[in-house]
Amino acid sequence: SFSEAEVQSARGAWEKIYVDAEDNGTAVLVRMFTEHPDTKSYFSHFKGMDSAEEMKQSDQIRGHGKRVFTAINDMVQHLDNSEAFLGIVNPLGKKHATQLKIDPKNFRVICDIILQLMEEKFGGDCKASFEKVTNEICTHLNNAYK
Ligand code: HEM
Repeated sequence: SFSEAEVQSARGAWEKIYVDAEDNGTAVLVRMFTEHPDTKSYFSHFKGMDSAEEMKQSDQIRGHGKRVFTAINDMVQHLDNSEAFLGIVNPLGKKHATQLKIDPKNFRVICDIILQLMEEKFGGDCKASFEKVTNEICTHLNNAYK
């Protein structure tokens, strides 16, 4: 669980990247698809996945980037309430495990890209403040596979 100080600094870090949720969510997805092309296979119904330039313009990817960031934002608002936090992350984990059949190793991949983007844009303290949140998200998404 998170101390009051951890909650505050994690929220401060997240706000910096969430201000531009659609652009930053899209940047995270484009980097995942570019650096880990196997992850594109889950999105075969998305058009315009052939180059990073195309992907950045794609309404489907932009919409999905926004949705992923909105889900993380909901979790970040409930770091101080584990019941509410689990109420968000557990159903999302179930959906990725049973319906979408995502290889759970990819949760660490996308979380590391979010941390990398935070460090590039806002520095090492921002990244450090959010590491525990990504660990928690990955742990609970992975639990849906047990
Ligand atoms: C759908 C969040 C990681 C693949 C979704 C949705 C959300 C979401 C909110 C929409 C769910 C709904 O419609 O009910 C997240 C979060 C992640 C994560 C917070 C980790 C931090 C991943 C990863 C992959 C993935 C790593 C694959 C590499 C998908 C796919 C869909 C989806 C294929 C359905 C997209 C569509 O057809 O529109 N995700 N996701 N997700 N996610 Fe994730």
